[in-house]
Amino acid sequence: MHRNFFIFGVTILFIGVVIAFGIQSVESQDDIVKRGKYLVDAVAACGHCHTPRAGADYDPDMYLAGHPADKQNPQYNFSMMQHNIFLLVSPQLSAFSGPFGTSFATNLTPDNETGLGEWTEKMFIESMRTGHHQGNKANRKIFPPMPTKHYAKMTDADLKAIWAYLKTIKPVKNEVSPVLNTRGRPY
Ligand code: HEC
Repeated sequence: MHRNFFIFGVTILFIGVVIAFGIQSVESQDDIVKRGKYLVDAVAACGHCHTPRAGADYDPDMYLAGHPADKQNPQYNFSMMQHNIFLLVSPQLSAFSGPFGTSFATNLTPDNETGLGEWTEKMFIESMRTGHHQGNKANRKIFPPMPTKHYAKMTDADLKAIWAYLKTIKPVKNEVSPVLNTRGRPY
């Protein structure tokens, strides 16, 4: 009889310890968003291209809002190759032109019309993983200099955290130009 009590006690203790550790290791949504912010701002430097500069520093009103719609874009010319020039960059450091055409850092804020508001987590993760527009392999490839080859190696947990954080930032209305081909026309 005493033995049974002892086994019962040990079992309860064991279950208690498992539950306590389980609860501790489950990250709260807050922690996930914080981690996403850390990855975006400190590790992956998404704002380096997606937050346009106003002069020498970032434009604080345009955090991750992409190349400003009212600013001109650089236009590459193949004759520049003779001078070893392969990339032109707009003064905001958010539009890029080269032998691939012209690309514009997109609006990563959750604005419904001009940002990622209508995107799903799956579209976001697949676009980072496959390097194809909106994560659909039938779509065009994402243009340079978006470093998809590197971000594709992030863990699911990290990409999910980035997505969770992007959903929380201030929506900014900014209609970024579609990519242009080498003749300066929309793709
Ligand atoms: C070196 C510059 C650079 C950095 C750093 C950068 N991006 Fe980009 N990103 C771009 C450019 C340019 C485009 C537009 C490419 C295009 O439209 O084909 C883009 C496009 C995107 C797109 C749209 C992809 C699609 O399917 O059309 C997403 C989403 C995105 N970036 C997220 C991020 C995130 C998140 C980070 C940080 C983890 C990041 N970017 C860092 C330059 C950059």
